[in-house]
Amino acid sequence: MQVIVLGSAAGGGVPQWNCRCPVCRLAWSGDPRVEPRTQSSIAVSAGEHAWVLLNASPDLRAQIAATPALQPKFGERDSPIRAVVLTNGDVDHIAGLLSLRESQPFDIYGTQDTLGLIRENQVFDVVAPTLAPRRPAAFGVPFHPAPGLEMEFFTVPGKVPLWREDAGLVIGEETGSTVGVTITANGRRLVYVPGCAAVTPALRERIAGADLLFFDGTLYRDDEMIAAGVGTKTGARMGHLSMSGMEGTMALLKDVPVARRVFIHINNTNPALIDGSDERRAVEAAGWAVARDGMEFSL
Ligand code: MLT
Ligand code: MN
Ligand code: ZN
Repeated sequence: MQVIVLGSAAGGGVPQWNCRCPVCRLAWSGDPRVEPRTQSSIAVSAGEHAWVLLNASPDLRAQIAATPALQPKFGERDSPIRAVVLTNGDVDHIAGLLSLRESQPFDIYGTQDTLGLIRENQVFDVVAPTLAPRRPAAFGVPFHPAPGLEMEFFTVPGKVPLWREDAGLVIGEETGSTVGVTITANGRRLVYVPGCAAVTPALRERIAGADLLFFDGTLYRDDEMIAAGVGTKTGARMGHLSMSGMEGTMALLKDVPVARRVFIHINNTNPALIDGSDERRAVEAAGWAVARDGMEFSL
């Protein structure tokens, strides 16, 4: 299985268009310690010229331009993108579907909840369901979005997308609103969890023994957006675990055996984005990598 990180940042990317937090300031100034990053998505393949995108970020067009494997190769119209698999309905995970218009067939997989959000939003009809069928996948039922690839959704504590929050908001719900994906090919297993509000015993079990784990790396500290003066929300309020602390991801997944563990969906306020920072060193000392755009893995 081939894996390419198309984008490693959380919503907004790095730097974010309107942000002057300490990390974005370094990025705006061209400081080499902060590599610019686009919004989170990975591409996976187990065959020739057949790729599946895990989420479609608003930066998808630029991600394809930066990734030769995803570019058209044959005839007048062509794409190796066979399917897009959605883990939730967040803007940073669905807006890229709009860049996949132009009458190209591919499949869109998601839970009933996530596909429902796309159905209700008429703008997504520009990606015609006749050419890009919506294929609901249930928990625990494997699907095969491209040759040689088997995938399965599992529940992850989460919430509805920001743009669907209302008075009835439940953070940490385990419904179809947020999922993780298990991807297997040739006996190798990748687990993709770009958003997660809590670690449950079932989640630990899902992750255990994976050859590669991509996990929610939104914030380093739960209150870092408040501390940086760029927001009023904690990570917990946004439905994201933080990397550090007793209740953070590094601590909660410490004893779960995984061959390689990589943080993805990293918010621009996260100091672990700065090469050489104390936070980066702590993350690496704990056995984690911080994803970069263009990173590749072969499983
Ligand atoms: C999130 O990951 O919390 C969302 O992408 C937030 C957003 O939609 O901006
Ligand atoms: Mn996000
Ligand atoms: Zn910022």
